[in-house]
Amino acid sequence: MTVDGGPKLPASKLPRVGTTIFTVMSGLAAEHGALNLSQGFPDFDGPRALRERVSHYLNDGRNQYAPMTGVPALREAIASKVAALYGRTTHPDTEVTVTSGGTEALFCAIQAVVRPGDEVIIFDPAYDSYEPAVELAGGRCVRLPLPAPGYRPDWNAVADALSDRTRLIILNSPHNPTGSVLTASDLDALETLLHGRDTLLLADEVYEHIIFDGAEHQSLLRRPALSERAFVVSSFGKTYHVTGWKIGYCVAPEALSAEFRKVHQYVTFASITPVQLALADFLADHPEHHLDLPDFYQRKRDRFCALLADSRFTLTPAAGTYFQLLDYTAISDETDVELARRLTIEHGIASIPVSVFYQSPPPDRVLRFCFAKDDATLLRAAEVLCAI
Ligand SMILES: Cc1ncc(COP(=O)(O)O)c(C=O)c1O
Repeated sequence: MTVDGGPKLPASKLPRVGTTIFTVMSGLAAEHGALNLSQGFPDFDGPRALRERVSHYLNDGRNQYAPMTGVPALREAIASKVAALYGRTTHPDTEVTVTSGGTEALFCAIQAVVRPGDEVIIFDPAYDSYEPAVELAGGRCVRLPLPAPGYRPDWNAVADALSDRTRLIILNSPHNPTGSVLTASDLDALETLLHGRDTLLLADEVYEHIIFDGAEHQSLLRRPALSERAFVVSSFGKTYHVTGWKIGYCVAPEALSAEFRKVHQYVTFASITPVQLALADFLADHPEHHLDLPDFYQRKRDRFCALLADSRFTLTPAAGTYFQLLDYTAISDETDVELARRLTIEHGIASIPVSVFYQSPPPDRVLRFCFAKDDATLLRAAEVLCAI
């Protein structure tokens, strides 16, 4: 390819990557004035006390670079939370790194350990940032299915896929887009499989507090035999309804954190200072906030699902996350991409076609809807969906 007589551009390093589906569907929703239940973000604001702390630090001159690893008070607050919730003693100076969102943490962890020729096991449907990061590192994803309707890993298939080239397994629980969660028996199986192997783990736990029906989040940080080989990633964007702030973190043993930080310091170096300071205060002053999240989002899930009882969609209520899959088999023979576009343009409601999270199109016919929305938005969305 050449541009106006300029240099011949090299072939794309990510030839199969286009604009993400989230950008495409949100753009289409805006263009057609549709209700946007596609991209995963709340249409309500984060806690006022937290926003006030950000404004305090912004106006108090705390606007220069933060330490590369994160503001100490925030790393300490994260370590305390991890100890209280998951019983893991974590050293804030050497094992906790604050990042610009979960996305940055995932990218840095992958770049830190994946080499050309390495294999990385991911599960389809897979969050879309994993594979490009693996490919940029020269690795190759081995994609295993999460079979519907439970969407849980088949550990026998994982055992068959493991090889001496398997550098990393990427897990995501609670799981976007399916809403499934890993159980203690899943972690038992994983422990058994990895015993005596050098394979590392990357746990995407950004929805750790959005889990329903009394289930407990099975963080890898609960299991020494797993956390000793794991990067565990979370995001304040999900927990505090502030996805636009892009602050997350990675907890990993010292040796893995050291490699992680070598990448992080050249990707962003450090994340926004006043927000980190505010988050540290809020964690200390409102440790109860995350305890309310399961009920808060379960009420929204239950409301959304109940409102759809008379629709032609069928569903299994999500076990976690703020996403609900709706099966449209009774409604249309279209592909999910076609239907998602048509619903946005003709019916004024935007969703995410789940097939884009797969390597090859899945047998199930489902769309993903985000229910992190005000009750009035959910009601309007349900009215539209029931009329389809
Ligand atoms: C599964 C999963 N991982 C990671 C992220 C990224 O988190 P952040 O917005 O903090 O970068 C998201 C955001 O939607 C997600 O759904």
